[in-house]
Amino acid sequence: MKTEYMNQNGFYEDLSATGVIPVVVLERVEDAVPMARALLDGGLPAAEVTFRTAAAADCIREMVEKCPDILVGAGTVVNVEQAKRAVEAGAKFIVSPGCDLETVDWCLEHEVNVMPGGVTPTEIMTLIARDVHVTKFFPANLYGGIPAMSALASVFVGHRFMPTGGVSAQNVGDYLSNPAIIAAGGTWMVKPDLFADGDFSRVQALAAEAAETVRAARG
Ligand code: 3PG
Repeated sequence: MKTEYMNQNGFYEDLSATGVIPVVVLERVEDAVPMARALLDGGLPAAEVTFRTAAAADCIREMVEKCPDILVGAGTVVNVEQAKRAVEAGAKFIVSPGCDLETVDWCLEHEVNVMPGGVTPTEIMTLIARDVHVTKFFPANLYGGIPAMSALASVFVGHRFMPTGGVSAQNVGDYLSNPAIIAAGGTWMVKPDLFADGDFSRVQALAAEAAETVRAARG
């Protein structure tokens, strides 16, 4: 496998520049475009649309077709079938909570950016052997947080993490200040109750606050 397969269209650079990746759970396709616009307007030009709802693939398709300026990927992808559906819908990256090698290999073979879960030394070594050098670290707060990622990065030099799980407006700046962390993901700015009434202004405001934290942490 070639390293550039993991970084189609400068994906890692975009990930790092965005800094915070909203982890989106959408039940209704009609919320997809307003969500994408609120995130873009707030200054977070990326969304990980999770395959936790039946609407996920259609939401990805809507965002990709109608909001070309946002980088849209699929999250909570647990098998190849979901990865295929996500890519067919236009997803530019695939995120998994864990390390399913069949899904990873399908993505690599099809030159699709993939960010599998890599938390333990064994998972990370298995992924490095496939030239995957960025992994999701989930659930970050329960698996040791920043000290755990720092310890792993000191052994697996050059490996970087996207922590999710327990990342919040309060602690995201600490995560982003650590060089082992390429970006942090979370749901705090896109919680369903924030836009249940169809008003996405709270999403936009929290996205703007997160974007400001990225600037403060990274300069
Ligand atoms: C994920 O999919 O990464 C997590 O659901 C995000 O966890 P959070 O809700 O604690 O941000």
